[in-house]
Amino acid sequence: MTQGDAHPHPLTQASSKPPAGWAPVDIDISTPSIARVYDAILGGKDNFPADRVVADQFMQFVPGGRDAARYNRALLNRGVRYLAEQGVRQFIDLGSGLPTVSNTHQAAQGVAPDARVVYVDNDPLVLAPHTSTQ
Ligand SMILES: C[S@@+](CC[C@H](N)C(=O)[O-])C[C@H]1O[C@@H](n2cnc3c(N)ncnc32)[C@H](O)[C@@H]1O
Repeated sequence: MTQGDAHPHPLTQASSKPPAGWAPVDIDISTPSIARVYDAILGGKDNFPADRVVADQFMQFVPGGRDAARYNRALLNRGVRYLAEQGVRQFIDLGSGLPTVSNTHQAAQGVAPDARVVYVDNDPLVLAPHTSTQ
C-alpha cells in the first residue's frame, strides 16, 4: 500500500481488542487455534489470550510476520479480484480463516455482485454464528 491510496487495506484499521460482551459458545478458548492465532497476527479481534501468546511467539521468531500476513491477505484479494474480472463467478475459499475486514466474497462481489463464495474451514470457531464480519 502506498501513501494516498484511494482504497487503503482495511486490515490496517482492524481493532486489536474483542468487543465487550463477545463470548464464544462451545469453543475451547484455552487451546490456541490457528485461525484465531492468524487473526491475532493480523490485528483482528476474534482471538483470546492463548492465541495471542502463540501470535506473540511467532512474531518474535519472524520479525515482519504481521506484514507478511497482511500481504498475504492483500494478495488473496488481488487474486480474487483478477479472477472475477476474468469472468469467474464461483469461488471456494478453502482454509478461509475467520471473517475479517476484507473477505473473499467482498473482493469478488466488488467486481461482480453475482459472484458466489463457499467458505471452508475445519476450525469450528470459523463457523460459529457469533463470528462477525466487519
Ligand atoms: C493461516 S489461515 C489463512 C486464512 C486465509 N485463507 C488467508 O489467506 O488469509 C489458515 C486457515 O486454514 C484452516 N485450515 C487448516 N487446515 C485445514 C483443513 N485441513 N481443512 C480446512 N481448513 C483448514 C485453519 O483453520 C485456518 O483458519
